[in-house]
Amino acid sequence: MTMPKMKKKVVDAFAPAAHLTSAEEATGTDRFDDVYTEHRIGKVSDIVADGNHAFVLKSEGKGCLRIECWNDDTIRFRFTVGKAGRDFSYARAEGVQPAGEGKLTEGKDKYTIETATLNIAIGREDGAITIYDRASGAILHKTQDSLYGRSTLLEGVHQVRLQFETDKKEAFYGLGDKAWDTNLQGSEWSNYTEDAFAYGKDRKLLYRSIPFCYGLRNGHAYGLFLDNSYRSHFDFNAKKKGVATIWADGGDFDYYFINGPGLTEVATRYHQLTGTPELPPLWAMGFHQCRWSYYPEQRVRDLAASFRSKKIPCDAIYLDIDYMDGYRCFTWNKEYFPDPKKMIGDLKKDGFHTVVMIDPGIRVDEDYHVYADGVEKDVFCKRGSGEPMVGPVWPPECVWPDYTNPKVRDWWGPLYKELYNEQGVSGFWNDMNEPAMFKVNNLTFPDDVRHDYDGAPTNHKKAHNIYGMQMTRASYDGLKALQPAKRPFLLGRASFSGGQRYAALWTGDNIASWEHLQIANRQCLRLAISGYSLVGTDIGGFVDNPTPEMMTRWLQLAVFHPVMRVHSMGNNTDGAAEAEAEEVKKAEELNRQDQEPWVHGKEATKHNRKAIEMRYQLLPYLYTAFRQHVKTGKPVLRNLFFYDQEDPQCRKFGDQFFYGDDLLVCPVLTEGAKSLQVYLPKGEWYDFWSGEFHIGGKRLRVKTKADRIPLFVRAGATLPTVDVVQNTAEMHKLRDLELSIFAAKNGESQLYWDAGEGYGHDAGQYTLRTYKMNRLGKKLSLTQTIEGDFNASFKRAQIRFVGLTQPPTKVVVDGRKQTAGIFYGKRAVVINVPFDFKSIVIS
Ligand code: GLC
Repeated sequence: MTMPKMKKKVVDAFAPAAHLTSAEEATGTDRFDDVYTEHRIGKVSDIVADGNHAFVLKSEGKGCLRIECWNDDTIRFRFTVGKAGRDFSYARAEGVQPAGEGKLTEGKDKYTIETATLNIAIGREDGAITIYDRASGAILHKTQDSLYGRSTLLEGVHQVRLQFETDKKEAFYGLGDKAWDTNLQGSEWSNYTEDAFAYGKDRKLLYRSIPFCYGLRNGHAYGLFLDNSYRSHFDFNAKKKGVATIWADGGDFDYYFINGPGLTEVATRYHQLTGTPELPPLWAMGFHQCRWSYYPEQRVRDLAASFRSKKIPCDAIYLDIDYMDGYRCFTWNKEYFPDPKKMIGDLKKDGFHTVVMIDPGIRVDEDYHVYADGVEKDVFCKRGSGEPMVGPVWPPECVWPDYTNPKVRDWWGPLYKELYNEQGVSGFWNDMNEPAMFKVNNLTFPDDVRHDYDGAPTNHKKAHNIYGMQMTRASYDGLKALQPAKRPFLLGRASFSGGQRYAALWTGDNIASWEHLQIANRQCLRLAISGYSLVGTDIGGFVDNPTPEMMTRWLQLAVFHPVMRVHSMGNNTDGAAEAEAEEVKKAEELNRQDQEPWVHGKEATKHNRKAIEMRYQLLPYLYTAFRQHVKTGKPVLRNLFFYDQEDPQCRKFGDQFFYGDDLLVCPVLTEGAKSLQVYLPKGEWYDFWSGEFHIGGKRLRVKTKADRIPLFVRAGATLPTVDVVQNTAEMHKLRDLELSIFAAKNGESQLYWDAGEGYGHDAGQYTLRTYKMNRLGKKLSLTQTIEGDFNASFKRAQIRFVGLTQPPTKVVVDGRKQTAGIFYGKRAVVINVPFDFKSIVIS
């Protein structure tokens, strides 16, 4: 929620303003508004190795450069204005270290550092960097002269930048949650976390700051990650032809060049650096229902009962800010919720997890234990003057913990104890952590606010972008310490690169519109390839009301977004601070603008139920894909061009995507669509719904139906699914698993399954099954290998063969001929076998 924003004057960040003068020119007694100094590398006199992994330039200029080989394909360039300070990063995952090796050679005009795959040339004249692919000799990255920095007497370092050569044909992807077209070529963006209520497609600043992008140049992919928490800017050929510029408003120009050649390889290397999340609890991947706000208790109970009586599966109900006592975090409004423990316990018995919101703004109130204790322990942010930073969010006066201080993070975690350990809340929702502030155009803290920054105190300019991420870190670590045997589920809003280690994300306060439905998908895809696979949107839109058709299409899409949560604003008014609370209450009482899956009539409810049921049926597959992400860093959602980056058609069909390796999703994003043109990339595909077989590399016009979106399965895949259940706890009672075999010459898929909660999987309590298929003429064989000790509830597998040219006459299971338990359908043959079968041969 925000107030409308004032227009700001746009200034060219590169040109020194007229009233500035350079240090060289500022001689004599004249005075200027400010005096600047430029920092470049200048003539390089030597490059010295520092251990096996690093090289330091000796040069004439005022800028310094250190080059580190993190591995053969991940090279760090740390450009500092003057001598390098502490080497510290919030983005890098704990324990990752440079481990690559480079061989240094000296040439006439340049030095070269050679890794197994790259040649990194450093010009002697100016320290310019050119990176070549060793295999092809192609240039992958070429800086335009030196890395650059500018400092002024009054502001200190206020710009560090990289300019590199590019061309119009190069595609740029990534950069977090930008609501823009998939390819960022020709556009310019900034990263500064901002509360973006009802954002539009062109809004420059959104909730996340993820200074990581991909370039795709002549079929070769690379990534650039700027590890700098100041406000940063990415200009992809927008201002100047042939040049892309990345700059930040302070700090070091500390960037990683991440080689491909595949986009997926860039993604996995970025994850090696910044980490992946843990596997979420299974219930977190079920369907979630939220609203601002469900209260009082009876309404929550009625909501839960409606899901069960209407037979619409659901795993979680969220309580937004009104569950609190006067927006005081970690408290309950006793009038609305007299016995939260009882209510949460009853909901749990019925298969519902309760998730509650926790904001960073702590109400100023001496009688409130969190505030009083925080003051005593000195945990709240202070202005440059030393006074506390006080401002309005939901309460008219708030203070904010400084989560960049490890002591404050340790103080914050245990605050969850009562909710989490005693009352049984399952998960938490950290909102407004950009940090958002009401009433001011700036939307956030002033720059002078101080932060500890893990032992190197600094101002808000430097700490702003990582504030939200550090809040989620404090919450996540706290939850883990409180219940070490439970997988925390935390949903966050603001974040920075690496924040995926702590929290799932949702895309914030979107709008119920067809354009936003498309934006929702693009944002989830962009976030997934930018490090955040555990993402979702407010299904149906936060602001305004979806039409029945829009709501259904949104749900059908969100089956394939890892976080599947309906959320809406209800009748709450913009900027609803306490003064307006009475109005908010009145509006809530009117209880209009409901967004539950059954509010749009019988027909729509049927379609919505079907979508949510499908989510549950596919959960074994979705969970497996997520586990693959956790292990390998391969994003769960991937644009088509991740599948084939050479095929220009894959870049054109920007709304289609892969969920995991085997499902190709083609969402319907427009109103009244009668048909949809889809693109099937090279390979072989089956229509999920009809079982029809297709050779890829073609466009296809598919008739759309109201109750489904076009979906294709990779030929060769084994797709694990289950019967419809009403919540994930029931899934662990199921005795049958269904495996759909989409026949092909050969193919391989996996199923990962475990208790859905806890860390037993670290001690082998999981089952990882690899299915390999081989077809020769009429004979098709499927083998299963099993890893891990988890004793799943599944006892039988129903093997469903899709795409057989003729029904089999012989079925052999584990070497024995099977005659019973075989069903011949119109399009598929189903065979009932033990869950642990080793081989099936049909001919
Ligand atoms: C913010 C959140 C929204 C929430 C509201 C009230 O606008 O983005 O999801 O419902 O605050 O807490």
